[in-house]
Amino acid sequence: MIKSDIIKKYKTKIKDFNKHSKLYYDKSNPVISDSEFDKLKQEILDLEKNFPYLISKKSISSIVGYKPSKVFEKYKHKVPMLSLSNAFDEDDLKNFEKKIFNFLDNKPKFSYSVEPKIDGISASLTYKNKELVYGVSRGDGKIGEVITENLKTIKDIPKKISSNNFPDDIEIRGEVFIKKKEFIKISDKFANPRNAASGSLRQKDPKETNKIPLNFTAYTYGHISVDNFENQSDFLKALNKWGFKTNGHNKLLNNIDELIEYHEKFEKIRFDLDYDVDGLVYKINELSLQKRLGFTSNAPRWAIAHKFSADSANTKIINIEIQVGRTGALTPVAKVRPVNIGGVVVSNATLHNEDEIIRKDIRVGDIVKIERAGDVIPHVIEVDKSKREKNTKKFNFPIYCPSCKSKTIKEFNLITKKYDAVRRCTNVGFECEKIAIEKIKHFISKEALNIEGLGKKVVEKFWELNLIRKPQDIFSLKYDYIANLDGWGKLSVDNLRNSINKSKIVSLQRFIYSIGIRHIGIENAKIISENLKNTEHFLEIIRTKKFEKFLNIDGIGETQINSLKNFFSNKFNSDIVIQLNSILKIQNPNLKQNGILKDKTFMFTGKLEGISRAEAKSLIEKNSGTTLSSVSKNLDYLVTGDKPTKKKIDQAKSIGVKIISLKELKKLLN
Ligand code: IVH
Repeated sequence: MIKSDIIKKYKTKIKDFNKHSKLYYDKSNPVISDSEFDKLKQEILDLEKNFPYLISKKSISSIVGYKPSKVFEKYKHKVPMLSLSNAFDEDDLKNFEKKIFNFLDNKPKFSYSVEPKIDGISASLTYKNKELVYGVSRGDGKIGEVITENLKTIKDIPKKISSNNFPDDIEIRGEVFIKKKEFIKISDKFANPRNAASGSLRQKDPKETNKIPLNFTAYTYGHISVDNFENQSDFLKALNKWGFKTNGHNKLLNNIDELIEYHEKFEKIRFDLDYDVDGLVYKINELSLQKRLGFTSNAPRWAIAHKFSADSANTKIINIEIQVGRTGALTPVAKVRPVNIGGVVVSNATLHNEDEIIRKDIRVGDIVKIERAGDVIPHVIEVDKSKREKNTKKFNFPIYCPSCKSKTIKEFNLITKKYDAVRRCTNVGFECEKIAIEKIKHFISKEALNIEGLGKKVVEKFWELNLIRKPQDIFSLKYDYIANLDGWGKLSVDNLRNSINKSKIVSLQRFIYSIGIRHIGIENAKIISENLKNTEHFLEIIRTKKFEKFLNIDGIGETQINSLKNFFSNKFNSDIVIQLNSILKIQNPNLKQNGILKDKTFMFTGKLEGISRAEAKSLIEKNSGTTLSSVSKNLDYLVTGDKPTKKKIDQAKSIGVKIISLKELKKLLN
């Protein structure tokens, strides 16, 4: 059979499979017998095995008939299940520590709880009065699925606790995984052990879960009724006493040198372990420091995952294409001869930017080494110049945008006094087609409006069909027309309409993020929204261009202010915001909770002793207070540290703002 026929055959089978999967798993209403379904599945797996080029992220060998079922009940995690930031080398670790010291504003002594990062999937177990009452998957970190019965089939998970000193109400978290020797037995069905564990856990029928032996290692807690632990290592010991398994390679170390030494050792022995480990997790052992450090929007400040080195392979560059991103960045991507790297077929590798191509002198036709680590996009490590054919030419990076033909520029960075490595299209609005499409993809993405059913591919399709040209078009789609398109039907259109309607209620913070202003990510959007009274206030600032109001609030500097100005200098962009405001129901920011500092505003001047500005601000916010960046009638307290600005104190005095020391602030907080 020729390749195109194989692909055609494969696609038809996948289509059938998806249809029957849906009927079986989501609707619990199969129209073919189980054995017919299994046969179809096996045929697809055989095709993927014989023709590995068929394998992609979405392939059956990654999800197999164990496609997550939508029949599970949803569960909102009491404490979000966040992910970890990654470190790949010593510099990353030093940077991690530096950020901690900056946040704490001193260098307290602490140790690290070092734990192997088992490559499985995390689960949360809630025990009440010593009994397992809820078992939940991580889901998207905020909302998981109730899979209690499936988790109960795992022998490592205690169903009842007999120990005396077990908290009345506690949520224990850990990793569910499959051992290598068990995985080998079913490796024809799953791409890797992680998928095997995930697939098995989310079976509709717990009996199916029970067929694949899974394991559980505990490593942390979510909520806890009596919180009397001082250290992570004490908590790990308690877990053991209560009857949970913890990893035998957990260790307590003191500094980065020791971490690196252990990492090097572990990297060598990891292949001898009977489970997959993809790195080491380092957590600050002292829980009091963990509490002070808290979290950024998606990861704790007090922990990091130090990954093991990646898999790599050699292949040939067939072409170099230029992608245009949402912020106009021109990213060169190497289209390479497909190659299997650690179980995943790679056919694209990023070349990062123009400077990278020049530095490595990467050319079309070159044999290159490509690396892939975890979920990170594969990238070119080096060119094998000994294999370079004669007459190849240096790659000419375009100086005009390949999408809209505008001029491209490399910006000069005033801080580093260097030109950017990235070349950008100078268009900031929607006149550049590629930028516009990327902006719309950003607008609907998970962290923005989160419109399910309107994925990136659909946006591209709708753009092509002229259905969407700007974000607000999403809210006046012609559903009757869409229902007649290939691949669409009444049900899918109803679902799309529902999720679009649902997305109309959005927080101001998400809305600001969703507009896609360069340098205004989730954190900055949060800071901006917290310093606004309501959406009208935001529109007024856009109208009057008084973005300086945000200057010097944590994280907002000249770069962000210039970016806001630049973005809104484009009328198309400001019109989008005005029109979206009349379509969406934008929720006013932060209805503050009833903390001890509710309705009180603070500002700092001078160096505070033993606490960074960032921590002081987060402390005030934790107690429902607000921090301001200038002295005004709205300010209640000016908190002074060492060498305060005289002008601020004088201003505060003249309008009767209370001036207090850090000590007095601490008193207010008890
Ligand atoms: S702590 C907020 N400890 O890594 C703290 N996670 O990238 C995050 N993981 O979803 C959890 N071993 O699935 C923690 N000893 C360990 C871990 C571990 C594996 C996984 C877990 C989590 C992911 C975060």
